[in-house]
Amino acid sequence: MLSILSISVCALAYAIFSIAKDPAWTRDTAVPLPPQSVVCIFRAAFHLIESIQFVDPLSFAVMGPNGSFRQNAFDAGFNPTGTEPPFFQIFDQGFLKILGNTPTITEIASNATFAFAHEGPVYDPTLDSVTFASNDGGALGMSDINHNNKVGRINLKDIPANLNGTAINIPVTELDLPPTVQMTNGGTGPFRGNILLITSGRGPLPPSIVLVNPNPPHNTTVLLDNFFGRQFNSLNDIKIHPSGKIFFTDTVYGWLNHFRPLPLMPNQVYRLDPDTRSVRVVATDFDRNNGIAFNGAGTIAYVTDTGANAGFLGNNQTQPATIYAYDVDPNSQVFNNRRVFAYTDAGIPDGVQIDSDGNVYAGCGDGVHVWNDEGTLLGKFFLGTVSANLVFAGPGRLIILAETKIFLAEIAASPSLFTS
Ligand SMILES: *[C@@H]1O[C@H](CO)[C@@H](O)[C@H](O)[C@H]1NC(C)=O
Ligand SMILES: *[C@@H]1O[C@H](CO)[C@@H](O)[C@H](O)[C@H]1NC(C)=O
Ligand SMILES: *[C@@H]1O[C@H](CO)[C@@H](O)[C@H](O)[C@H]1NC(C)=O
Ligand SMILES: *[C@@H]1O[C@H](CO)[C@@H](O)[C@H](O)[C@H]1NC(C)=O
Ligand SMILES: *[C@@H]1O[C@H](CO)[C@@H](O)[C@H](O)[C@H]1NC(C)=O
Repeated sequence: MLSILSISVCALAYAIFSIAKDPAWTRDTAVPLPPQSVVCIFRAAFHLIESIQFVDPLSFAVMGPNGSFRQNAFDAGFNPTGTEPPFFQIFDQGFLKILGNTPTITEIASNATFAFAHEGPVYDPTLDSVTFASNDGGALGMSDINHNNKVGRINLKDIPANLNGTAINIPVTELDLPPTVQMTNGGTGPFRGNILLITSGRGPLPPSIVLVNPNPPHNTTVLLDNFFGRQFNSLNDIKIHPSGKIFFTDTVYGWLNHFRPLPLMPNQVYRLDPDTRSVRVVATDFDRNNGIAFNGAGTIAYVTDTGANAGFLGNNQTQPATIYAYDVDPNSQVFNNRRVFAYTDAGIPDGVQIDSDGNVYAGCGDGVHVWNDEGTLLGKFFLGTVSANLVFAGPGRLIILAETKIFLAEIAASPSLFTS
């Protein structure tokens, strides 16, 4: 009975899929669709019909004189099917390869009163854990110029098998870190066996780049806390280039969130040699730079400019909400040839990660957006709320931070090979 029901529901799902898509998507063409019936038999049928929504760009290209046009880039986002989040929102068939045949997306941790899952997600394959930082200075962050934010961790072994979209709430453990770690806002690694955190500093306490022992007692080593004697503004995000050099962004959000002094330097991207500690600027001329990532070969850098979000000065959607791409100079590693890679339709593009096919994932105002390497929006992990960052937890698992919630998407895509 159940399987007959599943199959008929799946047939309906397949029909909806076929009708919704453009002619290039029909069953008769060479473009293979995932076997939706198989999806449905092995996973919760009703849930999946809801959780995969194809939104054909042809269906909204013309909204007409009476259309309900969006006014606010910082609302709950573009959801023309009115589907209940979380779900997969597909704009281009390229997203199907990323999702695979049996995708799920499930809330795995939550705390309605505490933005415990804001930034700096780092997956540790040895521990099968993800470490992350709570919101620093913003809404529900419980941190300010007098109070440090928190670094927490989830153990992915706590997640039961056969997730089906029904929310669960696994434990979050707080890491007890020394006071050299102030207002963590980014992270990457593991780097030489350690978690690499980047901190914004707090009041007069300097922003820094810090190695953290992933195991207790979580002792730390500060790698950098100044630029030739001058404090950074408020360090924001960090990635390791395949060459082993460390690249990081410095921006004004510490001041814009009332916990750092007025900036004394431009907003820039820097390179640190972790061995010699030589540090230099590799990109400048931003409104407010933020996330950073490299393609797998390390030849292209992506840097987000989140100028449209100005903290206590408010949002201004005529300012950038933009991902720039650059060529990484093979000798100097300076970022050359800046061009627009993508502009997000929802909020701002914050943290960025790259998969093994070079697709670009960014935390945005309504969830995680995914573009192919040409900058075509393939689809979204639609949450209807802000995601500041995400991280692959090995192949097929994407951990999405969403302030008061964490989601796990089980998909087909894999992270790019070097440390993300
Ligand atoms: C999903 O899994 C939960 C247990 O985690 C179970 O209670 C629920 O019935 C399942 N839902 C479906 C539609 O299979
Ligand atoms: C737009 O709305 C007006 C007023 O309700 C109506 O007269 C008009 O026919 C509508 N136009 C279209 C294209 O639906
Ligand atoms: C949410 O986080 C706050 C701050 O850590 C804590 O006091 C509270 O108990 C948490 N609530 C739940 C439901 O876990
Ligand atoms: C932590 O302490 C151990 C023992 O002294 C040391 O070997 C290790 O390098 C330290 N780790 C960090 C990240 O400081
Ligand atoms: C928004 O930014 C534009 C520049 O892009 C500026 O002209 C305008 O005054 C700003 N609006 C507000 C309300 O600050």
